[in-house]
Amino acid sequence: MPLDSDVFRVPPGCNAPQQVHITQGDLEGKAVIVSWVTQKAKGSNMVLYWKEHSSKMLKAHGKSKTYKFYHYTSGHIHHCTIRNLEYDTKYYYMVGVGQTERKFWFLTPPKPGPDVPYTFGLIGDLGQSFDSNITLTHYENNPLKGQTILFVGDFSYADTYPNHDNNRWDTWGRFVERSTAYQPWIWTVGNHELDFAPQIGETKPFKPFKHRYHTPHRSSGSTEPFWYSIKRGPAYIIVLASYSAYGKYTPQYMWLEQEFPKVNRTETPWLIVLMHSPWYNSYDYHYMEGETMRVMYEPWFVKNKVDVVFAGHVHGYERSERISNIAYNVVNGICSPVKDLSAPVYITIGDGGNLEGLATIMTEPQPKYSAFREASFGHAIFSIKNRTHAYYGWHRNQDGCAVDGDTMWFFNRIWHPIDDSPDDDS
Ligand SMILES: [Fe+2]
Repeated sequence: MPLDSDVFRVPPGCNAPQQVHITQGDLEGKAVIVSWVTQKAKGSNMVLYWKEHSSKMLKAHGKSKTYKFYHYTSGHIHHCTIRNLEYDTKYYYMVGVGQTERKFWFLTPPKPGPDVPYTFGLIGDLGQSFDSNITLTHYENNPLKGQTILFVGDFSYADTYPNHDNNRWDTWGRFVERSTAYQPWIWTVGNHELDFAPQIGETKPFKPFKHRYHTPHRSSGSTEPFWYSIKRGPAYIIVLASYSAYGKYTPQYMWLEQEFPKVNRTETPWLIVLMHSPWYNSYDYHYMEGETMRVMYEPWFVKNKVDVVFAGHVHGYERSERISNIAYNVVNGICSPVKDLSAPVYITIGDGGNLEGLATIMTEPQPKYSAFREASFGHAIFSIKNRTHAYYGWHRNQDGCAVDGDTMWFFNRIWHPIDDSPDDDS
């Protein structure tokens, strides 16, 4: 979208906070990280917040920073974690205290537990094109009402503009504020967050991302913001980094190895993994890019009965069968995916809008592991009903808001591990 588009408008008022966004701030869901940017001066780093129907104002103090990227200097980027919130409660919050004050609200999740319904939205590869705006509007108008977005990477595509024009990180932040200020977006990094540009002297990967988007990685024992876990209601969500080292002995590998045993499916029955680059993909685009990570981690996913894996990267939509491919050992030749009821369903939801258009060329004929694929823009909803059932739907931009283009009732892999394939003709 052009720079003068209404969705990029700077909020009125002197040094008004902009690009307001929230994400979960701890492991359990009792903290929220509030982030915003002030462009002209630092301003207050305080967040005022209060419970609905309560006159008791609470305050928390954050920190702000600026960064430079080639000839660009950022505004003051503030991050403030508010803690000890009550579960299942509506809070109002205010930033820009003492200057141009802006007020928003959010709902905290229910206490982690096996039978607390919760609805996640899924968006990937959003970008800031006209299609991106349609996707976000369509999600907002979806009657299934997602309560938290699981975002699978590729935010602004600023790196596709000349010299990684970081003003496009700012425009993206303003564009998505209408959602990110009111419900948490759980961040996964994609390749467009790398911003590795040695030709202009920018050699620190993820510099804009790291300054602008914080994650609660420390509370799950992670050493980097790119991989971490959270519990949210009935779900345990593991976020992985496709563009950080994941081989044996690397920090991510060692963290993930220790992470799986911590998942208590009696408390959080649904085990969801997010990553950017898909392991099972039958489009021509990025074909087999996820293969090296799959080889490293797939046995753990099957052993630990991950329910579903969401990825982006490919600008289309695809849902896999429950399959695994873990028998290969160099000499035995067993290297094809097989049906496996302990394996997750792999969903590619990289069809948010991006900047580069849809991926339309596919591997033909459709491989057996691929259950459904279509190159259309859209978003998805994963609606957990109880410990055994979750309703999943993919919503195409060209359809009405209540229409889903692909659906599946997920049966939990621990509590109801029978075949849940909607296409099963056996
Ligand atoms: Fe990507």
